[in-house]
Amino acid sequence: MKKTEVIKKFSDLVKIKSVSTDKKYFGEIKKAVNFLSSWLKKLAFKVEIIEKNQVPPLIIAHSPFLNDKKRTTIGIYGHYDIQPAEPISQWQTSPFELTLKNGKFFGRGVADNKGHIIQNLTAVTLLIKEKKLKNNIIFILEGEEETGSLHFEEMIKEAKDILSKIDVFYLTDVGMHEKNIPQIFYGLRGIIYFQLKVEIGNNDLHSGVYGNRVYNPINLLASLIAKIKDVKTGKIRIPGFYKNFKKPSSNELMILKKTLKNDEEEKKEAKVFGLTEIKNYGSLSAKIFPSFDCHGIISGYTDEGQKTIIPSKAAVKFSFRLVEYQNPDEIEKLVFDFVAKNLPKEVKWELKCLSKSHPFYTEVKNRYVKETAKILEEIFGNKLLFDRSGGSIPAAEILYRLFKKPIILTGFTLPDDNIHAPNENFDEDMFWKGIEALKKIYT
Ligand code: BES
Ligand code: MN
Repeated sequence: MKKTEVIKKFSDLVKIKSVSTDKKYFGEIKKAVNFLSSWLKKLAFKVEIIEKNQVPPLIIAHSPFLNDKKRTTIGIYGHYDIQPAEPISQWQTSPFELTLKNGKFFGRGVADNKGHIIQNLTAVTLLIKEKKLKNNIIFILEGEEETGSLHFEEMIKEAKDILSKIDVFYLTDVGMHEKNIPQIFYGLRGIIYFQLKVEIGNNDLHSGVYGNRVYNPINLLASLIAKIKDVKTGKIRIPGFYKNFKKPSSNELMILKKTLKNDEEEKKEAKVFGLTEIKNYGSLSAKIFPSFDCHGIISGYTDEGQKTIIPSKAAVKFSFRLVEYQNPDEIEKLVFDFVAKNLPKEVKWELKCLSKSHPFYTEVKNRYVKETAKILEEIFGNKLLFDRSGGSIPAAEILYRLFKKPIILTGFTLPDDNIHAPNENFDEDMFWKGIEALKKIYT
């Protein structure tokens, strides 16, 4: 494959608006499945599409000779679904047109996770063309990662016979420490996501006539949110929340020390005016501690000028990131009790858990990690770092729990990749070097 052919494929995939959070894109999800299946079929892979009604399908595709016991079988995971591109006005390029600008590829999903999928498919295609592929490859491509992988476990189980043959899983859905400094991740936070609706009555009221006399749903949510997390210390105040939380050992902290970044660097990367932290933990605050964040809040009057109402209802979306050994099922109960206790009896409310996934934590003392690290160091010319990420990939914990095989979590995007945000990008050099690295790893 020539570079221009790879870019053509990349740009064709970026054109597909495979947003999984909104059902109106389901047709696009199907297009992504077709695009990937036809590429895999051209490589003589056997493609199996696992489908459930209105659920983004799971693609399982394996190379020939799967039953040759002498070969190592490598599982390659990726997700073809993407986050919405909104707010579109903040993009400097068109989000669904792959654009190369200042040494970076821009477009929704280029980093998370379409670019990595293209890298993997390109690496495998080249190895086949050059007759260098001695291992079996099984692709596991999911389409509902960005919505919490609600059906992943159930669908994976349908392909258990094939997937049990895998000796090692590669998940390339994380990034590098900085340009040319590769990382292997041994931990990810879990996540539990909620939606809460509060209703005080049937219609909006005049705030002069009723202020003090009725509950205000915005005030109620604000007060509840403030009770959940102390914004000064970052501590979550839900009773029992930290019961199973494990602080890293001094040994682990030594390893993580090498990944520390100073405030100026992090401010620049995040493009923020200031930082917060869990006292004394600086840039580790988002990796090793649980957190709580609201993602969206809807209520009341937000148009031009002033309107003095007490709205009848308000809704908020929020989530908790979890670390070892917090259990999302237990946290769900604690959150439910906390909300019930802290909202007045006379208001109607509905708390829905939209998804939950366990934290992921693994050992890195196996031959696959060692050999992968060596190749990454060779290609990128720098020492590799072992790291933990604050992000979540539900599939990592699920695959590890079901198959108990080594999981190598790595990737080639940079800290300013803007994933989930406008101007998502993938550094061009890291993209091509990543393909070189994957070719070596998969042989
Ligand atoms: N690739 C990310 C996970 C990630 C982000 C890892 C940053 C390391 C650093 C993944 O696609 C993602 O965004 N996952 C979601 C999962 C959630 C919706 C269940 C996340 O972390 O918010
Ligand atoms: Mn993502």
